Order: sequence, then structure tokens, then C-alpha cells
Amino acid sequence: MEQFIMKGGKPLHGEVVIGGAKNAALGIIAGALLTDEDVTIENLPDVRDINVMLEALKEVGATVKRIDRHTALINARDVNDVSIDDEYIRMIRASYYFIGSLLGKYHKAIVPLPGGCAIGSRPIDQHIKGFRALGTTVEIKNGCVHAEAADGLKASHIYLDVVSVGATINIMLAAALAEGRTIIENVAKEPHIVDVANFLNSMGANIKGAGTDTIRIKGVKRLHGTTYAVIPDQIEAGTFMCAAAATRGDVLIKNVIPKHLESISAKLLEMGNTIYEFDEAIRVIGADVQHPTDVKTLPYPGFPTDMQPQMSVTLALAEGTSVVTESIFENRFKYVDELARMGSNIKVEGNVSVIDGVKRFTGASVNALDLRAGAALVIAGLCAEGITTVNEIGYIQRGYEHFEKKLQSLGADIALANSDRAMQKFKLRIAN
Ligand code: EPZ
Repeated sequence: MEQFIMKGGKPLHGEVVIGGAKNAALGIIAGALLTDEDVTIENLPDVRDINVMLEALKEVGATVKRIDRHTALINARDVNDVSIDDEYIRMIRASYYFIGSLLGKYHKAIVPLPGGCAIGSRPIDQHIKGFRALGTTVEIKNGCVHAEAADGLKASHIYLDVVSVGATINIMLAAALAEGRTIIENVAKEPHIVDVANFLNSMGANIKGAGTDTIRIKGVKRLHGTTYAVIPDQIEAGTFMCAAAATRGDVLIKNVIPKHLESISAKLLEMGNTIYEFDEAIRVIGADVQHPTDVKTLPYPGFPTDMQPQMSVTLALAEGTSVVTESIFENRFKYVDELARMGSNIKVEGNVSVIDGVKRFTGASVNALDLRAGAALVIAGLCAEGITTVNEIGYIQRGYEHFEKKLQSLGADIALANSDRAMQKFKLRIAN
């Protein structure tokens, strides 16, 4: 079982390069199925969820060549199956994007219903509403979504009752090849929505309005091959911004789109930190004394739910009381109990946490309960006195490429340990 072991107390210093956006890449990989021609995807993050999606493509008969760690060449000409299922794909939420892309191209899809998740209930009713509006029959049988559009997909006017990243991308994937003009209202506006739309347009789709509340799609008969580079990961960048601030460090975060980070920068500035924005980089200098502030998670351009735990850890070391409201996923405060082992003072009431800042954390053994909670606990460990071990780091590796190596390059005392011996070795090195 792998763990991250770290000795906290060192401010992070230096430069770090951010990888491609996981949540954009997941939609883009599924979208590569929509053409028979070659699709080359660049700037893919080399993380578990991406690798599982690429394996799933192979399972249905697509050819996937890893040109290098961050580039894949996909050809879906020989896809011979519209049913995707294995133990790995069941573990990742984004498997649902195969419903949209298989339906779009083959008018049929059988994909496991993504299971419950540690961060709260995650229905896909809005995805299904969209598929049905496009003329698809959808049934749930034996844990799988069976979707079929026997007469092909027909454009429709769809209003989403909930602003959903997944439903917006999934309906775009299906509607790109549908007959007629589809309008989707009340859509999500996250940077990855725009990226998936740009990717599909680079294949010849006609999608307008991504990044606004309404997306208009004029269905085309076929899509062609493309070479496309995924945008930088907003959440990986935000995580390093919080790590820089919380450790009172000074970090230049490169390969980012500063506009995507505005809600995070705004909060760090309110706390008294210094931020310099460049064209493709952002520098965060953590203030010694940081002020409390209130945060409410909201769909983009609001503060991202995927940054709530990392920001909460930063606030937990500020001087005073902050209030954090989680309005997207109801169970996203589970890490609070883990953080309490390190000496934090946070009370949770429903979807609100009240954070009383403490002077310091102390090292402890804690569990990463989900991807972002895990990253937040690593940040806490880097700030804590003594040794912290973060267990169950498989969650973290689903979304952060070489997290420990990037932190080491910023001067952090952190290692990936996969045995008691490795743990002892780290402790010995630290002691000397
Ligand atoms: C995406 O999940 C991301 N996952 C999540 O990232 C992220 O937290 C979330 O968007 C919000 O930004 C991927 O992109 C693979 P939603 P998704 O549909 O699409 C409700 C991470 O850490 N809802 O935007 O599943 C839902 O319950 C992960 O990288 C419905 O009610 O999220 C939630 O309250 C975790 N019905 C809200 O909408 C639906 O049909 C937003 O969910 C769909 C969603």
C-alpha cells in the first residue's frame, strides 16, 4: 500500500509546471470515438483516470498509441462494440462520457452506471434527460445504462434543471452528430466545457456558445481527425497556489491560464497573500500572517468545489474565523475529521464549515478520502510540525501527476513510500 510521507515546516520555493486538465481530457478522449480518422491528443496528464479511459477505448476496438507520456494517437475506425465495462471503468465517473460518444456515432451504448462517490450523491438524471430529448430510449438494467436511438439522434431544445459539467459535455458529445440544431440551456461554463467544445470543433463540429449559459450545436454528418492540445489544469494549478500560500512559500506556477484561476486568486488575495499574474504563469507569495475569509463553492466562474478542501486547509492556518459553504456536493467535508487529527479547529453543520484558524498543525497519520481531500491533506502535512503520512493515495494519483516529485522540486520533504522499509528510510534521512 503506497503512502505519502512528509516532514512539514518548509515553505515551498521555486517553479512548477502544470499539466493538462484531467476533466477536459476525459471528455476529449471519449470524443475521439466520434471519428474514424486519427485523433492526436497532446498535453494529456499521465494520471490513473486518463489511463483507464484510454484502456476502455482499446476494449471496444479502438487503436490507442501512446506516443509519449503526454500524447496519445487514437483511431476508432475499427470499434466493434458499443458496450464498455470492466472493474476499472466502473471506478471512474467519466465513464459516462462513453454514453454520449457511442450514442453520437453508433446510436447505441451500454455503459455501467457510475457508482456512488465519497463526495456525495451524483445522479445522472440530467444526462439521461438530454439523451432522451435527442430521441434516445434509455433504460437502466443490471447496473448499466442501455441507451439506443433506433432512428438516429434528432436535435432538440434542452433545458438543464441543474448546472452540470458532466451533462453539458455528454449532451455535446451526442449532439455533435445529431440531425438538426440542438440548443442546451443552463449549461455549465467551466474551462473544460469550452475545451471539449473547441476540440469537437477542431474535428469539424459546429458548436457555439460554450462558456456561456446556452450552447448551440448544428449537427454535422461526420467529424474528421485532429491534433489537439488539452488546456492546463485549473485545479492542479489552484492546488499549488494554496500549497504556496499555506506553507508561506513563494512559487511560480507555470503553464496556466490565469483567467481560470481568478476565483482562487481573489480568495488568496483577500487573505493577504501576494499574487503576480503573467501571460501563462502565476506567482503566489504566502504572507506570514493570513486573514480569514468566507468561501462559497459555485459553478464556474464561482469558486470551484474541487478547490474547497485545499482552500479550507489554507484557511485553517489563518488568524481568525472563516466560513466555507459547499453548495455542489453535500459530502465534501469528510476530510475535516482527518484534519482534526492534525490539530485543526473546524466545525461542520450541514453544508457549512466554520474554520477557526490555528497557529500550527502537528503531523499525524491521515487517510485521503477522495482526490481533492487527499491533496488538501498533503498540503496540511507540508505545513505541520513533524511527520505526516497520508494513506490511500491512490485517490490522489487519479488526478495529480507525480504530485510528490513536483513538491520535492519545490523543496518539500516528501516521499512516496510503498513499504515499511521505505518509511524507515525516509525517517532516517529526515533525522539526519
Ligand atoms: C465534474 O463532475 C467533475 N468530474 C468533478 O471533478 C467536479 O467536482 C464537478 O464536475 C463539479 O465541478 C469530471 O469532470 C469527471 P456535475 P460531475 O454534474 O460532472 C448535480 C474532481 O475532483 N447533478 O457538474 O459529475 C450533482 O449531484 C472531480 O476532479 C444532478 O443533480 O459534476 C452536483 O450536485 C470530483 N444531476 C451538481 O449537479 C445530474 O444529472 C454538479 O455536478 C448531474 C449532476
